[in-house]
Amino acid sequence: MQNFEFHNPTRIVFGTETIGKLNTLLPASARVLILYGGASAKANGTLDEVKAALGDRHVQEFSGIEPNPTFETLMRAVELVRQEKLGYLLAVGGGSVIDGTKFVAAAVPFDGDPWSILEKHGRNITTALPFGSVLTLPATGSEMNNGGVVTKRAIHAKLAFSSTHTFPQFSILDPTKTYTLPPRQIANGVVDAFVHIVEQYLTYPVQAKVQDRFAEGLLQSLIETGPEALANPQDYATRANLMWIATLALNGLIGAGVPQDWSTHMIGHELTALHGIDHARTLAIVLPASLHVRRDTKHAKLLQYAERVWQIHEGSEDERIDQAIEKTRAFFERMGIATRLPDYELGAEAIDTVIAQLEAHGMTQLGEHRDVTPATSRHILEAAL
Ligand code: NZQ
Ligand code: ZN
Repeated sequence: MQNFEFHNPTRIVFGTETIGKLNTLLPASARVLILYGGASAKANGTLDEVKAALGDRHVQEFSGIEPNPTFETLMRAVELVRQEKLGYLLAVGGGSVIDGTKFVAAAVPFDGDPWSILEKHGRNITTALPFGSVLTLPATGSEMNNGGVVTKRAIHAKLAFSSTHTFPQFSILDPTKTYTLPPRQIANGVVDAFVHIVEQYLTYPVQAKVQDRFAEGLLQSLIETGPEALANPQDYATRANLMWIATLALNGLIGAGVPQDWSTHMIGHELTALHGIDHARTLAIVLPASLHVRRDTKHAKLLQYAERVWQIHEGSEDERIDQAIEKTRAFFERMGIATRLPDYELGAEAIDTVIAQLEAHGMTQLGEHRDVTPATSRHILEAAL
């Protein structure tokens, strides 16, 4: 196992009727900005519950944070917070709203051009406003981690940042608030969480027994729970399991002391920034192709994955690896997510631009061995045709 530090200060409040606890989670004197997305938080009543729970605190709202939140939109929230001297941010929504709130929290006190926070991936953040979240979409793990992804629409750049200053102070996870999710977002959440686990697990062995078994348990739970969530969207136990799996998939625990990949995410971000494909869908395109192209460097872990996650015991090593990759692809497709570029009306002609953007963003040595060069990324995208 590799050396590591593990520190996660986010308090999780999980279960039904937990939004009322906001009153004790925020300081009584807080001047609050609630940030949310489009219509969903209002339509399903979550916003009203949040406002009621905040009592007589000074509360303002900022709506319109879009999926794949943009720098352009978020800077309007930054201006509002500065103007109105607000001191506490509360995100109500999915990963996009929580990521956007993290950026606003860091950008308000930031000295200089806030876009440099993204260019430096958060290394230049020295302080941030306090914030919490009310999660309505299990997927990203943003509710219990310190990362965020922001897009600058003007230059088609989708860049990630993280900082010790951008952990939520708390997150409220009420599974009943996810009942209104459309099947597309349920499926996206399952596939995103699945790939988060794989990016931290399917690298090379370092004898990290607990991290491995924990990751395998999360993957098996997702394989079981994902289709159930599509079939029975109002089932509390299913939704509760899904919510906790997605949080644990990216709260730092399974990634502590193990090598991490993240190349699928970095290639996927370019596909979203260029073509507007949902985050999880880009991962479903890239991951099976990436496992295929990189099967030699991932050999030992692919065999472990085949055996322990998919119970594949028969055949040669190559056959078992092929089967595991095919089962992964079939799982994504069973969730209703297509896994090849042409399914999204993209052909070979789209690849050059993706590679150029990866180069422009310094994404030229990706993966656990830093051997995913632009040439490898090209092979991966070609294998996704
Ligand atoms: O805008 P509204 O009307 O709220 O609708 C949203 C949005 O259209 C809807 N939605 C959310 N909760 C709902 C609901 N609809 C009905 N009922 C509810 N309860 O869902 C749509 C998608 O929301 P979004 O927040 O964009 O989805 P997700 O949570 O999948 O977040 C994706 C973003 O997170 C980033 C992605 O890159 C992408 O920008 N990621 C963040 C990570 C992190 N912070 O650690 C890691 C991830 O790898 C990922 O990159
Ligand atoms: Zn993701």
